[in-house]
Amino acid sequence: MSRLGVDIGNVSLKSPLILASGTCNFGHELSEYYDLSILGGLSSKGLTIRPRVGNEGVRVAETACGMLNSVGLQNPGVDYFIEHDLDYMRSLGTGVIVNVAGHSFDDYMAMIDKLDPHKDKIDALEINLSCPNVKAGCMSIGSDPEQIREIVSAMRKRTELPLWIKLTPNVTDIKATALAAQSAGADAVVLINTMLGMVIDIRTRRPVLHNNTGGYSGPGIKPVAVRMVAECSAVLDIPVIGCGGIMDYKDVIEFMIAGASAVEIGTASLVHPACPVDITRDLEDYCNVNNILIKELTGTLNIW
Ligand code: SIN
Repeated sequence: MSRLGVDIGNVSLKSPLILASGTCNFGHELSEYYDLSILGGLSSKGLTIRPRVGNEGVRVAETACGMLNSVGLQNPGVDYFIEHDLDYMRSLGTGVIVNVAGHSFDDYMAMIDKLDPHKDKIDALEINLSCPNVKAGCMSIGSDPEQIREIVSAMRKRTELPLWIKLTPNVTDIKATALAAQSAGADAVVLINTMLGMVIDIRTRRPVLHNNTGGYSGPGIKPVAVRMVAECSAVLDIPVIGCGGIMDYKDVIEFMIAGASAVEIGTASLVHPACPVDITRDLEDYCNVNNILIKELTGTLNIW
């Protein structure tokens, strides 16, 4: 019996490892590297009502401890996804998480109405209230507890699909936004999306990214993410999914001790596409050696 199974509310996953939105598209490319059915789930690229080409010019920049992206929600649009990619994601033998983005209240409602009829193929909707790379919506909605409450409670009335709310770290008090999501009926929160950053080319004195700023991800943000998971899981009743700089199995364990019930792997897949194979093997070894189920780690932090 595998020791890696976890539950996010009513959603049972065979492993705590989920591929983070935007780092695996819909699975087509990564499936050439390894069997994606070892994963607990795969979160689709952030989808919008209409197709988007994303931001112009340079959209990624490496830094010492990670990278910045300003992709700008490039995606084929929800209709195309439903017609061409959803069945493929379902066929992968892993949890299907659909990441939903938008610019306004009405956009998010329209997305729910498009996806709800396909609920038999979807395990959870990950509501992206945190993309820092678009002018309207997303992060500006997700920085304001009142708007989070309004949008999540309206979604809650429209669908029975599990709602996982992906929150931004670019706020003063992450507990306030997480509690707002919970009070509006969210089934889980995902912590954290990227941190707003800038990289400057000292020769041109211009930002490297043509959007000027971008979302910082990778090992540099891990301590911030772990702190936010610990703070939120201490006050929430719903599960927390940890995300931010996970590179190996020890990082997964750290997030789970902090309070995460599952984790998302993002930047690491861009460095080593098949890293979940090693992480899965190492987590299994860890659980066998310590004679535990991985879910027993969640929230076992001993604070001073
Ligand atoms: C992007 O497409 O700009 C990144 C998506 C996100 O941060 O949610």
